[in-house]
This record gives sequence, structure tokens and C-alpha cells, in this order.
Amino acid sequence: FILQTISMAESKRKAELLPEDVGTDDCLTSYTYIYSPDLLKDQVAFITGGGSGIGLRIAEIFMRHGCDTVIASRNLDKLNEAAKKLSAVSGRRCLPLCIDVRQPDSIMAAVDETLKEFGRVDILVNNAAGNFLCPATALSFNAFKTVLDIDTLGTFNTSKVVYEKWFKDHGGSVVNISATLGYRGQALQVHAGSAKAANDAMTKHLAVEWGPSGVRVNAVAPGPISGTEGYRRLGGPRGEAAGAFQSIPLQRAGNKTEMAHCALFLASRASSYTTGAILVADGGAWLTSANDFSMLLGIKRDK
Ligand code: HXC
Ligand code: NAP
Repeated sequence: FILQTISMAESKRKAELLPEDVGTDDCLTSYTYIYSPDLLKDQVAFITGGGSGIGLRIAEIFMRHGCDTVIASRNLDKLNEAAKKLSAVSGRRCLPLCIDVRQPDSIMAAVDETLKEFGRVDILVNNAAGNFLCPATALSFNAFKTVLDIDTLGTFNTSKVVYEKWFKDHGGSVVNISATLGYRGQALQVHAGSAKAANDAMTKHLAVEWGPSGVRVNAVAPGPISGTEGYRRLGGPRGEAAGAFQSIPLQRAGNKTEMAHCALFLASRASSYTTGAILVADGGAWLTSANDFSMLLGIKRDK
């Protein structure tokens, strides 16, 4: 009985430590502030891939802290729906814009539109990405290129456009959404791991080059984050059911609100002396988890 009571108290403590979450692409039904509610008051954030998953939650948390947002990706219907929900829950403005981060012209037009609508942009979140599980030999040349194009070139393209059109003269904060896949060479992930490793290097290069213009460049490297497309595509639910997360030091998947709080920290004056940093937010997963889940997921990999 004593052990059961201790374990119930422990579960309650853990639950209290976990910020609110909703597993679908909807906004939170309740929210408890950790930071000052006006941390981003009257700032403007441009968030690629802000219509779903982690990007959508970042948009919501930023807006709850007084920020207006632009959410930009390929699917305008999805963005329109997301923008309505975001404005309804936060009372802030959200402008949905259609871009493909592989097409610099589409980014230039969107940043022009942002400046026309809001007159400024303070934060860029490079969150757009594409991923799937695939062994190296089954990966076509074009499949590898596609992921590098979206994740790496897309991050560079968007950063360069926002810098040249606004940050160069006004300063700003860039937050790249990375991953830990390349740290230990995750199986079936040579495309995404290579792309995100390049983004980590880019984070440091641009921090060095753009620091003198008052631009900070940082990254968040999430682990497995429940309720996201990435989690589903990379076999998260199956891994969780098979107990694979017990090997993670914090013994669970992360949630979208936790990632949004990391992005908020890096985007805001809370991290005013931090640049070129990669904030790993994975519950310690990359330190201890297996880097080959192919057997668990029933996927044949190269010998
Ligand atoms: C192998 C695949 C594939 C798959 C596509 N391809 N899906 N190869 N396995 N599952 C190949 C195609 O055959 C084609 O090569 C090439 O990739 C390009 O495919 P398209 O469909 O033409 O590309 P596109 O329409 O541009 O779409 C990009 C995409 C798509 C990445 C393939 O899945 C997408 O839009 N994804 C966005 C959403 C997403 O992925 N979210 C998860 C992010 S999570 P060929 O040779 O046939 O022309 C994430 C998590 C990281 O990044 C870390 C987690 C721990
Ligand atoms: P998601 O909901 O699929 O987010 C990816 C977003 O990118 C989508 O909104 C998509 O919107 C957009 N996008 C894709 N290709 C694009 C393109 N060419 N141009 C513009 N936008 C594009 O997946 P997620 O799981 O939340 O992932 C968000 C970020 O977290 C990614 O950077 C991912 O690598 C990272 N991450 C996720 C996890 C995880 O467990 N989920 C772990 C580590 C890292 P459209 O389809 O409308 O274009």
C-alpha cells in the first residue's frame, strides 16, 4: 500500500511537471503561463510549417505571449483553418501565406506581404521539414535530394530572405527546428539526419556572421514528440507500445508545448546572450536510446 501511494504521488508529480497538450492539430483548451504573458508583446514571428504539429503549437504559444504570426507552408487550406483557430484562442493576428521553402521567389513574396501587413518581423522559426523512414539503398537519389532541399536549402533560403529584407537593419532572432538523428547515425534516416546536421552547422555559421547585425541564430533539437506527423511517420506509437521509451532517461515522449516553450526561450529576450546554440529537448533520448529501430518497426534495412 505504501509503495502504491508513493508511486501514485510520483505519477501526480510527473503529471504536474508536464505542460498541457492536445494530440491533434488543435489549440490547447487550457494554458498555464511559465513566462510573462507579454514576453513577445507586439512582436511578429514568421513560422514555416506553422499550420500543423510542432510549428502550430509554436505559433499558438507565441501568440499567447502577445505576438502576431505569419504561418507559411504549401497547403493554404490547412493554413487558413489553423490561422482561424490561432486567432480565436489568442486574440492576436495570424496571416496564413502559401510558400514552398524550396522556391526563393515564393518566400520573397511572403516576406514582402508580411512587412506590408505588419510593418516588421522580429522572429523567424524554420520549422518546415519532410521526413519518412527509408533504408539508404531503397532511397532514390531524388528522395535524398528532396529532404535536403526542404530541410536544409529551405532553412537557408528563408533565413537569407528574412535577413536581407529586415533583420540586417533591425536585428532579430532565428530559431531552427533541428533533430538529434545525426548524432549517432539513426538507421533509416540518412536523409533527414544529414539535412539536420547541416542545419546545425548553418545555425553556428549564421550566428557568427549575423551577430554583429543584432541577429541571434539558435536551434531546438526535439526528440520524439507525441501528437505529430513526425512521430507517426517515424513509428512513435509503435515504439511507445513496445516499451522503447523506457530507455529514455525521462521515460516518455515529449509534447508540442514543451517544444514551443524551448522555441519561446530562444526567440525571446529570455535568451538575449545566447546565439549559435542547439538546445536538445529530447528527455535525454539520444544519449541512451537504440539508434536502430528497424527490427521493432518491421522494416528491412541493409545488411
Ligand atoms: C521512400 C519516398 C517516400 C517514402 C517520398 N519518397 N516518400 N521514398 N520512402 N516514404 C520519394 C519519392 O518517391 C520521390 O522520389 C521523392 O521522395 C520526392 O517525393 P515527392 O512526393 O515528389 O515529394 P514532395 O511532394 O516534395 O513531398 C516531400 C515529402 C513528403 C518529404 C516526400 O512526405 C512531405 O511533403 N512531407 C511533409 C510532412 C512531413 O514529412 N512531416 C514530418 C516531418 S518530421 P522519386 O525518385 O520517386 O522521384 C521530421 C522528424 C525528424 O522531420 C525527427 C524525428 C525524431
Ligand atoms: P509536420 O506537422 O508535418 O510539420 C512539417 C511542416 O512543414 C508542415 O506544416 C508542412 O506543411 C511544412 N512543409 C513541408 N514541406 C514544406 C515545403 N516544401 N515548404 C513549406 N512548408 C513545408 O511535422 P512535425 O512533426 O510537427 O515536425 C515539425 C518540425 O519538427 C520539423 O522540422 C521536424 O523535422 C522537427 N522534428 C520533429 C520531431 C517529432 O517527433 N515530430 C522530432 C524531431 C524534429 P505543408 O504540407 O502545408 O507544406
